[in-house]
Amino acid sequence: MQVVDRVRALQALADSERRAGRRLALVPTMGALHEGHLSLVDEARRRADVVVLSIFVNPTQFGPSEDLERYPRPRERDLSLCREAGVDVVFVPAASEMYPEGSQTSVSVSALESPLCGRSRPEHFRGVATVVTKLLLAAKPHVAVFGEKDFQQLALIRRMVRDLLFDVEIVGAPIVREADGLARSSRNVNLDPEARGQAVVLVRSLDAAESALSAGENEAGALLDLVRAEIAHAPRAEIDYVELCDPQTLEAAPARLEGPALLALAVRFPPGPDAEGPPVRLIDNRLLHFKPEGEERP
Ligand code: PAJ
Repeated sequence: MQVVDRVRALQALADSERRAGRRLALVPTMGALHEGHLSLVDEARRRADVVVLSIFVNPTQFGPSEDLERYPRPRERDLSLCREAGVDVVFVPAASEMYPEGSQTSVSVSALESPLCGRSRPEHFRGVATVVTKLLLAAKPHVAVFGEKDFQQLALIRRMVRDLLFDVEIVGAPIVREADGLARSSRNVNLDPEARGQAVVLVRSLDAAESALSAGENEAGALLDLVRAEIAHAPRAEIDYVELCDPQTLEAAPARLEGPALLALAVRFPPGPDAEGPPVRLIDNRLLHFKPEGEERP
């Protein structure tokens, strides 16, 4: 496994692999790797000969009061997980490498940046779009793999790649969960035991909405109420948003669901009474498919 920290070196490596006729896949991450990230590596391996995984905690996608400093950075552990997972190249650039001195160019995907997570994280997706553009230009992959856990991010990157004529295939991979259903996240380690126990309400609320929908409840308002009621079972949980929207445009879903709809939520767990620091913010989502009566399988 090669560890590369320079953009020019990664570009040269990609050029020579491409000349040799090999397919490259990129898995962008911020490190603190877990099973979710490793599932993306497996997907990348199925689609390419050379798997490049980047680890870069991108400062431009964190707001001023967010957890940039606190974001876990277990570098040695990450490298050994990459080795075990069969990653070929790990790209670990310094911030000065990704943002050369005097940088002033950014990428913005206007309408997809503002709903859902964009409402409480106004600069976040510009930071994501900008760094993913740079990572694509640095790694020159044929395919790049992203998790459906960050559904808005995936929708925005798909849009950006089409809009900017990038010659890369974007692949989405399903959400990987803990044994109790909590979506795996690098931020889960920041939850104290009580909050960790309560965090299961996220997935339970999605399950409740999905069951209600399959039992025939397709009124968006009723489904959202159900989700909020389920989250209310966790006294420490504060809802950031719970929304039903169009999976592509992320615009609000109709009052009565007709086709596929994305149920997306974000919940904050503030520190307990004896602790301090920013809240831990968790997201989850489920793609719901309403099947009108008569269309169910026998
Ligand atoms: P990070 O949060 O490290 O996630 C890296 C990739 O792993 C993303 O595509 C994310 O959707 C995916 N992922 C995270 N948890 C997952 C889970 N439980 N199941 C499946 N996939 C999961 O997302 C980012 O980093 C950054 O915004 C990045 C794209 C690297 C740009 O900085």
